Amino acid sequence: MTDALPATDAEAAVELERLALLIGEADRAYHERDAPELSDAEYDALRRRNDAIEMAFPHLVRPDSPSARVGAAASSGFGKLRHGVPMLSLDNAFGPEDFSEFAERARRFLGDVSLSFVGEPKIDGLSISLTYENGALRHAATRGDGSEGEDVTANIRTIAGIPHSLPTPCPARIEIRGEVFITKADFLALNAAQEAAGQKIFANPRNAAAGSLRQLDPAITAARPLRLFAYAMGEASEAVASTHWGYLERLRAWGFSVNDRSTQLADVAAALAFQDQMAADRAALAYDIDGVVYKIDDLDLQSRLGFVGRAPRWAIAWKFPAERATTTLQAILIQVGRTGALTPVAALAAVNVGGVLVTRATLHNEDEIARKDIRVGDTVVLQRAGDVIPQIVEVLAHQEGAAPFMPLTHCPVCGSAAVRPQGEVVRRCTGGLICAAQAEERLIHLASRGAFDIEGLGEKTVREFFTEDLLKTPADIFRLRDHEAAIAAREGWGALSARNLLQAIETRRAISLERFIFGLGIRRIGEANAKLLARHYTSFANWRTQMLDAVQIGSEARSDLGAILRIGPAIATELAEFFAEPRNVETMDALAAQLTIADAAAP
Ligand code: IVH
Repeated sequence: MTDALPATDAEAAVELERLALLIGEADRAYHERDAPELSDAEYDALRRRNDAIEMAFPHLVRPDSPSARVGAAASSGFGKLRHGVPMLSLDNAFGPEDFSEFAERARRFLGDVSLSFVGEPKIDGLSISLTYENGALRHAATRGDGSEGEDVTANIRTIAGIPHSLPTPCPARIEIRGEVFITKADFLALNAAQEAAGQKIFANPRNAAAGSLRQLDPAITAARPLRLFAYAMGEASEAVASTHWGYLERLRAWGFSVNDRSTQLADVAAALAFQDQMAADRAALAYDIDGVVYKIDDLDLQSRLGFVGRAPRWAIAWKFPAERATTTLQAILIQVGRTGALTPVAALAAVNVGGVLVTRATLHNEDEIARKDIRVGDTVVLQRAGDVIPQIVEVLAHQEGAAPFMPLTHCPVCGSAAVRPQGEVVRRCTGGLICAAQAEERLIHLASRGAFDIEGLGEKTVREFFTEDLLKTPADIFRLRDHEAAIAAREGWGALSARNLLQAIETRRAISLERFIFGLGIRRIGEANAKLLARHYTSFANWRTQMLDAVQIGSEARSDLGAILRIGPAIATELAEFFAEPRNVETMDALAAQLTIADAAAP
């Protein structure tokens, strides 16, 4: 690779494609396989080259550009930490016979003893080892290859429920292990926020937890709703209990959260009953579990049993079978998102999958539909395997005469052309603000928590007001006070609710620049980027002028914007496109005219 920039668009496009592939592959090797294939310096050089070409050829920035991955893998990785005692995995049982066999094997090994167990939910997250020295949290490491993990100490310190120090008396040195996870509700909210910010959507809570923990910037981890359940012991300088149950109690006393469904089980019969109970309760739990873990309670017996291969002889994981069901696909619905993304959703004949009644499934995008050849009327197999959103895993049969799915050429809501730019997987409505669906989604976003945070103006109310023409544009929110009587007269409202809502709106007339920018709902401008922009431009007037100048490719304002740390050319293009559309600027100005936008402090 030479230092000179490519001479033509064609050359630049080829090189950008190559760089996207190389950097993507390096990221996967590093983050997913824990097996870096490039040195930090080589990796940095690739990224710098990519940024330089994008700066010179902004119109060629790829949708999968590495520069658009805000806050993800950056230039250097985590350090490595060696575990005092290896972090092993567990053998699996898939039915009562497997469990009985496990208990029988242990009894044979130990001679004739009676065994009791502790049953725990098997949390679907990622395991972590925390080392405390003289009561202070010193290191935190991921499992890695079992002997050595990544040093995520700084990130772990940002998790609210993890004690930074242990009350005395405690061992001089102790490794405490547990599972970092995200609840189902937090996962949905996180994905909604990620989507609003045009950032990566996580496939399931486990991926979201792993992605959130393995951030090179601990500030990003701090903003994610991570939690920990502590459940195991690593190296310890002295014994802390004689039973696993006693150890869990000790952990609780030290301030760790220990799963409240963990139970002492007197014998094999009790253990089998625990499995049934957890399977029945699984859907109602706030977090994903993929089975239960049984541990022999007596720690002396545990150490006599020891390990075989990579798993202890004293514990076993009983995995739930993947939850599947067969049903009919009644229709393929197309949802229109805030930034015009058209998302296909499966409407299904209602079916019970593992205790949850399912009527909708994600279809991801049109490529997935084509790959699986999903057609309306199909008999399909649904799966909920840890994932909160059910998926269609297989088509069993097409209905006679069913035609393959054809992507829409026009937005189902506003009729504007629907286009899929080359290289993107998402088709978008080009209607912008004239599309009622986009306008409505933008209003919901504007009133939402991280943005204007207007109490009482949640999604349901915005949708109703939108349908009733009380709200059409952002500025209308601040004109609702002219409709107090109409709001009070609505069913279920009354004078008091109307007044409360209008008061909540009034308190938001004074707004910070970063909330204002985030509230506009521009693609890829999430809370973090809105904050960067606010700090960089400090006032609304300055930001507005600079953004209008940045519409011009090659302008000073455009390169200044692209040069803000972590904004980069791809996001700069997104902002420029927003400001290039006069209707967007008009709508923004009308909103700004209702507000007092506070200046931000420079960084
Ligand atoms: S005990 C030596 N307890 O499952 C055994 N693991 O399949 C140490 N897991 O790597 C693990 N919930 O990430 C244990 N209550 C629990 C668990 C649990 C989830 C995970 C853990 C482990 C994997 C093994």
